Amino acid sequence: MDLLMIVNKENRLSKKFVPIDLVEIKTIIPGAVEVDRKIYLNKIVAEKWMELKKHVEKLGYKIDISSGYRSYEYQEKLFNKFINQKGIEQALKLVALPGTSEHQTGLCFDYEKVYMEDDKIKSSLNELDMEYKIVKDIAHKYGFIIRYPKGKEKITGYSFEPWHLRYVGCETAKIIYENNITLEEYKSKILIK
Ligand code: DAL
Ligand code: ZN
Repeated sequence: MDLLMIVNKENRLSKKFVPIDLVEIKTIIPGAVEVDRKIYLNKIVAEKWMELKKHVEKLGYKIDISSGYRSYEYQEKLFNKFINQKGIEQALKLVALPGTSEHQTGLCFDYEKVYMEDDKIKSSLNELDMEYKIVKDIAHKYGFIIRYPKGKEKITGYSFEPWHLRYVGCETAKIIYENNITLEEYKSKILIK
């Protein structure tokens, strides 16, 4: 599988595309269930995620996955849900149309901080959370990038998503992190040189 593949509004996947190397991921986030009520990721991505998670835990914080691989059909349902809740204009900034979500590759996931409230496990994430502040500066060491960064909305086509990490491998992630660029910019400006 091409770890640098770009899936965005211009580069679509077919309805039939299903990655072959998916493995199941355990999560404690309630309701974080998508395909057959389980979460899947690409095998390499799953291993790197576990390493990142352990690093964050060693620093005293708890994070887990709320969304991994999504089938074309699941993305379709999600997109329709957002249209009903927020209208088409907002939906297009927040959720990918089916066939244009990189969640269909199994190479990315959404993570959240996990905490207890009223004896129940809860989860959420925003850019002010310590969990995000830690992850944004160590994710590249495990091969991950913040795929939809702040200030790059015109390039990525989506609003800032602190929770969405994409695996590209350590070498590429380091360059993207250090140069504060997107995967689109990396492929068009750096890789072709
Ligand atoms: N939220 C991202 C863009 C997706 O739906 O794939
Ligand atoms: Zn996502």
